[in-house]
Parts: sequence; C-alpha cells; structure tokens
Amino acid sequence: MKTLKIGICGVGNVGGAVLDTLNKNPEIIQSQGGVHLEVVLVGARKGKAAVENKQLNVVEDLKEVAASNEIDVLVELIGGCDLAKELVETAIKNGKHVVTANKALIASHGDELFKLAKEKNVQIGFEASVAGGTPVIKALREGLVANKVQWFAGILNGTTNFILSEMSDKNTNFDDALKQAQDLGLAEADPTMDIDGTDAAQKASILAALAFKVPFDFKSVSYGGIDQVDPEDLKYAAELGYAIKHIAYGSLVDEEVSVSAYPTLVSKELLLSQVGQQMNALDICCEDMGSTVYYGPGAGPKPTASAVIADLVDIANGGWPSQDSAKKVNKITKKTASFPRYLRLNVKNEPGAIAKISSIFANEDISIEALIQHEARKLPEDLQDTVPVVIISGSVSEEIISKLITNLESMKEIDTKVRQFRIHNAV
Ligand code: HSE
Repeated sequence: MKTLKIGICGVGNVGGAVLDTLNKNPEIIQSQGGVHLEVVLVGARKGKAAVENKQLNVVEDLKEVAASNEIDVLVELIGGCDLAKELVETAIKNGKHVVTANKALIASHGDELFKLAKEKNVQIGFEASVAGGTPVIKALREGLVANKVQWFAGILNGTTNFILSEMSDKNTNFDDALKQAQDLGLAEADPTMDIDGTDAAQKASILAALAFKVPFDFKSVSYGGIDQVDPEDLKYAAELGYAIKHIAYGSLVDEEVSVSAYPTLVSKELLLSQVGQQMNALDICCEDMGSTVYYGPGAGPKPTASAVIADLVDIANGGWPSQDSAKKVNKITKKTASFPRYLRLNVKNEPGAIAKISSIFANEDISIEALIQHEARKLPEDLQDTVPVVIISGSVSEEIISKLITNLESMKEIDTKVRQFRIHNAV
C-alpha cells in the first residue's frame, strides 16, 4: 500500500481533529482510500504542549514544515491569509501538494496558487473550505462534471443558520443565539465575518469558480449579513409561507455570472427552508438534469477534518483536473440576478396610502404578488398612526429594486427605511 507523508501546520480545533481521526480510523482510511496517511511533521506555534500524541515530531516554526523535504503534502490549517499564503507557496514551490481548509485564502488568492501548482505539477485540495464535511467541492469537480450548472443556492454558514433557526423556532434573541453558537464552537473566534456575510461570500466565490469557470474573485461577490434580519421579518415570512435563511447564490444567465450572499426568504416548499441548526445545504441546478441537493455539517472540527482527510486520499489517488486560470471563460459581474422581493414598509395610516404605494410599483412595472396589512388596533396605541405593510413583489433586478425603494422612501406617508429581502423559490 502506498504511503502519503503529511506535514500539518496548525493544531487548533481542526488540526487536533485531523490527528484524532487519523489515529482513530487508520484501517478504515486504508481499506476505503487505499493509502496509509502518515503524519511525519507537525507545526504548532505553542510546540509539543499543543499536541496530545507525544510520539509526533513537533516543531514551533511553521515555515520549517512548509519547506520540509520529508513531506509529500502540506496540510495548512492556520487560517488567515498572510502566513498561510507564504506556507502554501513555499510548499508548492518545493514540489509538495497542499490541502487547506482556508476559504479566505482560496477565495482571494486561488488563481495565483493554482497557476503555481500547475507549473509545479502538484495538487491543491480545498474540500474543507466550503460546507465542512459535506462534499460539495467533490460534487462540482467530479460528480456533476457532465453538466452545465445554471445556478446554485446554499446555506454555507453554520453559525448564522444556527442563529436564524433559534430565533425563528424558539423566539431566542440574536445575542443569546450567537452566544450559544460560540459555546458550540461553530462561530469563528471573531464572529463578525459569520454575521456580516463575509464567510458565506468567500465560500460562494469558491463555488462559483468551480461551477461557472470564473476566477476566484471574492471582491466581486455582493453580500450582506443576518444582522439585517429583525424578528418581525421572521414572523411575516412564516405567515407568507417562507423561512428566512442566509443564502449564497450564484447564477449563469446569458453568459453573465452573478454571485451573492444575503438573508433571503426561502419558500417552505423547498428543502433549503427545512435546513435547521448549524447544518449546511447546497442546491445545484444543472441544465437538463435539474437540482441535486447536498446536506450536512458545515462547521466544527470533526466535519472539517473529514474533508481534509478525503482530500489527502484523493491526492494519493491522483487528484483532480487543474483549476488553472487559463481555462476561465467568464467573470463575475457586479450585476445581480433578478429575484422576487419581500418589502416591509411602515405606512401612515391614512386614506390613499396603499393606492400611492401601488402606483409606485406600477410605474416601475413591478407586480405586487401578495400584501399583508393587519388592522392598526392590534398595535400598541403609540404605533397606531403607522401600520406595517408587507409586500411580495414579482421578480426584480437590484437596480430596479433600489430605484423602487428610493421612490417609496420619498413618500411622506412612509415612515422609516424600507426593509427588503430577496426571495428564493426556484426549483
Ligand atoms: N464559522 C464557519 C461557519 C465555520 O459557521 O460555517 C466554517 O467555515
């Protein structure tokens, strides 16, 4: 049986879980993967104290691992972009394969790293960078290779899915739900990038590169976070037959690729709406075949370790086709695809207000598909001079919805800012 010699940089939660799984399941990996995975060098900035298995060869200088001639593969698990990039480049230039869980690195520097890897005839595995243990990269690289992807829609951030699920199922407030996610080890050390949508947007840019042959171009992804979601929106969405999820979306329409990640109303008829807690799911819709949906744990040490080890086995067995940027035929445009929209307006409770609103919709040629206005007497007395009005519109581009919202907000009958979310109901 062949042996793959591994050097690991970073033995935090994920690195520790990789070592645990390699230690626990060697026979399973050998019989199912046809390879013996041998950890020959570990880089831990805190030294031997950070590693449970005292038999391992541990060094504090991570660069020593990246430059080692003893290894076949560098496993980069330190995260961040600067040092991680240096380590990965060092290993590739030294003719070593790389496996990484680092979505920020791949999303922003994927093209230059894959170019270098191609020159050096080595592989880069990054299954763990998107959806943790759920093999979505493998689906795009291999399982769907015969298909043209039309769009994908995914829940790619476990932390925010956990928070939204707690808020909508148990009426938990945002802060308590975030604290629980942190206690469960789901959120990043600094959860800002989970909450503001950066994490999901980075993952979306990686999926788009595979699905639509665009460069790894995180900067061209438009995104927003779940901090925009108010408990009232969750209630109205439920009343209208939708859940609110943070959806990473990519589509190819008329050879234009748009990629985004926003809180989105998802029809309760779709599987994605049922994805609760910290789980991830990805719906990939292909021309001719239609949708395939992938569901599983997208965060946490063990699922991430599962994906890292799967990449190591694949590398031992020959790897994947190159992700060379020369093959990229499209690029991500800043234009975004059209979606039906959810709008919540605070409207002065006076005659003619709804008529004016509907004329603004008509002027932009946007249809009103549903409208909810509850009687003001159900509101506290101090709020009875305005009523919340919730509207579901027909499909509208980003440009037109911005114009519509500007026009609505200029009405004297509309109080405060108009809230708006996209709706995903495609199959
Ligand atoms: N913080 C991420 C999440 C973990 O919650 O999905 C893996 O990227």
